[in-house]
This record gives sequence, structure tokens and C-alpha cells, in this order.
Amino acid sequence: MAVNSLKGRTALITGAGKRIGRAVAMALSGEGANIVIHYNRSEAEAAALAGELRACGVEAWLVKADLERPDERSTLVERAAKAAGKIDIIVNNASVFPPSTLSDLSFEDLLSSMTVNAWVPFSLSRDLLRLSKKGDVINILDTRLADYDWKHVAYILSKHVLSVLTKMTAVEYAPDVRINAVAPGLILPPPGEDESYIEGLTHTVPLKRHGDPEDVASAVIFLLKNDFLTGTVIPVDGGRHLKEGR
Ligand SMILES: NC(=O)c1ccc[n+]([C@@H]2O[C@H](COP(=O)([O-])OP(=O)(O)OC[C@H]3O[C@@H](n4cnc5c(N)ncnc54)[C@H](OP(=O)(O)O)[C@@H]3O)[C@@H](O)[C@H]2O)c1
Repeated sequence: MAVNSLKGRTALITGAGKRIGRAVAMALSGEGANIVIHYNRSEAEAAALAGELRACGVEAWLVKADLERPDERSTLVERAAKAAGKIDIIVNNASVFPPSTLSDLSFEDLLSSMTVNAWVPFSLSRDLLRLSKKGDVINILDTRLADYDWKHVAYILSKHVLSVLTKMTAVEYAPDVRINAVAPGLILPPPGEDESYIEGLTHTVPLKRHGDPEDVASAVIFLLKNDFLTGTVIPVDGGRHLKEGR
């Protein structure tokens, strides 16, 4: 097994200003990687993170893009590379998680989730191949792909599409770009909910607890460092994928 050092590599992390994206940024910086922090609304959090990363001894840049806007997403990798000099790694972390059921799902809801959660990770990966010619991509999926999420239908459909795209691009872009994924389980309550939201769901997890953003980040690092992996999905979910549907 070849162990890739992350020292001096440059990673673009989408939605990096807070929560799981922030933990991934901190963990990658701990390995010596420089970070391009993508954000949309969380400008203050992104700026604070950049300061923290620089204080840890790595370089950090900020790039803004509303991923629903074609003009902003289609230039993101290019703008990130211009700011940082190069992009070696993309972590496709940003996502939307709107409630929707089969009975109230609209085409617009579906399109919004498909755009941010599936199209953008795919198109940024393709941009990386075109611009950098080689590198690594980590897509963030969801352990509920093992079953369904009946209350977030647009979201889960979009993550299914991203799951298939992870495998197709892993084949198509090899050997130049490796595409792997992490599928988190119960990690953080959705924005607007408090800790009781996930505490109330720990009975669905074989390990009987929720995970932390750092658990997701350490799986991202494992996938980046082991360069014989492509198309691999690591569930970081306390075993929840084994019992979806039960
Ligand atoms: N939380 C969990 O327990 C859990 C479980 C399973 C899977 N996941 C997956 O793990 C990843 C991170 O989860 P999370 O809960 O930390 O995510 P989150 O807080 O819901 O979203 C992460 C970021 O996505 C960005 N984003 C959303 N819409 C955007 C848009 N139109 N343009 C640009 N950026 C946009 C936002 O950036 P700004 O704030 O800068 O606007 C947001 O902070 C996601 O892919 C999620 O599906 C999470």
C-alpha cells in the first residue's frame, strides 16, 4: 500500500465554514494540506476558519459560490486554483437537506437537491480532471442510501445519484483522478435542530451513539492517503447501514 502524504497538497472543500466541512478542513490541515474554503452564506465562519488554519501553519484561501447559480459553480475550481496556485483534492461536502415526502415533492425541490448534492460534485470533479489532470475527490454521501429517507425524498434521491456517479467517475477518471466517498450516519442534528434530535435516534445505531464530525474527517484522510483505493465508499455510521430497513 502506498501512503500518500497530504503535506503541501491543496484541497478545495465545499461548504467548509462550519460543521462537518470545517472538521474536514481542520483534519486535512493537521496533515499539512493547504485549504481552499468554499462558502456561500457562512462568510464570517469561513473567515474565522481561515485564520485558525493559518495559525496552524498551513495556507488558507476563501472562495464564495452559490452552488445553485451556474455562473458561480462553473467557475469555482478555476477561481480556487487561481487563488491557491493549484488544486489537488476536492471534498464535495456542501449539501442541502430540505424536507420532502413523495406526496409533496415538487420538480423544483428535486432539481435544487439534484443540483447542489449531485450535479455540483460531479461537475467539480470533471473540472478537476480538466484543469489539474490528476488528483483526488471525496464525495460525501449518506448511510441512508442503504434504505430510503421517506421524509427527505429529494435529498436521498440526489445522494443516490451521487453514489452512482462516484462509481462511474471512479472508472472513467482512473488512473488520473481517484474518486472515493464517505457515507456518514448520525453525526450532527440538521441545522435548526438541537442535540435531542440525534440523541432520539441513537437506538437505530448498533454502536448506540452518534458519531462526531472528526470521525467523518478521519475516513476522508484514510481514503486520500491510501492510493490503491478508488470507487470505495466508507460508511461512518456506527454500523447503521447494516440494519437500515429493520
Ligand atoms: N449531519 C449529518 O449527521 C450527516 C449525515 C449524513 C450525511 N451527511 C452529509 O455530510 C455532509 C456535511 O453535512 P453537514 O450536516 O455538515 O452539512 P450542512 O451543514 O447541512 O451543509 C454544509 C454546507 O453546505 C453549504 N451549502 C448548502 N447549499 C449551498 C449552496 N446553494 N451553495 C453553496 N453552498 C451551499 C452551506 O454553506 P454556507 O453555510 O456557507 O452557505 C452549508 O454550510 C453533507 O454532504 C451531508 O449530506 C451529514
